[in-house]
Amino acid sequence: KKLYAVIGNPIGHSMSPIMHNDLFSFYQIDASYLPFQIKSEDLKDAVDGFKAIGIGGFNVTVPHKTAIIPLLDEVDELAASIGAVNTVVNENGRLKGYNTDGPGFLKGLQAFMSGAASKKILLIGAGGAARAIYFTLAMEKPDAIDIANRTVAKAQSLIDDCPYSVKSEACTLDEAGRKLGEYDLVVQTTSIGMAPKIADQPLDLSNIKKHSHVCDIIYNPLETKLLQDASNRGANVQNGIDMFVYQGALAFEKWTGIFPDVERMRENVLKQLG
Ligand code: ATR
Repeated sequence: KKLYAVIGNPIGHSMSPIMHNDLFSFYQIDASYLPFQIKSEDLKDAVDGFKAIGIGGFNVTVPHKTAIIPLLDEVDELAASIGAVNTVVNENGRLKGYNTDGPGFLKGLQAFMSGAASKKILLIGAGGAARAIYFTLAMEKPDAIDIANRTVAKAQSLIDDCPYSVKSEACTLDEAGRKLGEYDLVVQTTSIGMAPKIADQPLDLSNIKKHSHVCDIIYNPLETKLLQDASNRGANVQNGIDMFVYQGALAFEKWTGIFPDVERMRENVLKQLG
């Protein structure tokens, strides 16, 4: 039996074990996926232990996505440029790190609209999730990706760090609200609107472009205040379930060679969320 895992701290809330164990049984693969709560000071021992037992692979979540990098044998180019690994694969005894968060978001976007090419995009937030999404979308030849953030300097340093060339400006949330009519796609990556503070919304949508698309990477609640507001104004909306499910699907594919049934995964996750 092969072991797979997710490591983080905390880890109790993770839906990944239920999602991946269901896939292993559905595809009749003799494997188990377990959550491990690992403290930062124990991260190296955990990685060494996983290697010693011949783990098939593992996911990495907060707060270890960056700290894991120097502990791996190899890191793929996108994950190295983002500076975050969320998926590790045991490739003949060598642990190789990947990032499926950005590519997972992109796959969800391709299922939602035609992708990012030639679109004018507004990214809200400049944290870890924004970074993975920005670097990934930058390679898709969008017209522009502007970043709005409470701390504009953080948005600017994200832009300055990106090795893939794309037209971008950093701005405040208020400025973004004023020029919202320019954007085909708005991607919300901050924790604003997440339970329990569900009444919060990062910016005013009065100027939103007709028939534009709005994604929020939050999935609790399933429809944030931002998505409700966007939907009421006639925009097309997508919640964070897609990014979560597709990042897991891409990890599963790296481990098993099978791109799994994402509808099955989505239903399973929705059942967990009650
Ligand atoms: P993650 O890794 O999940 O993306 P993070 O790195 O902590 O999380 O980033 C959080 C993002 O949410 C940042 O863009 C942060 O804005 P700042 O860079 O100004 O800190 C944003 N954010 C979180 N709470 C916020 C709030 N109450 N108002 C505005 N922005 C907020």
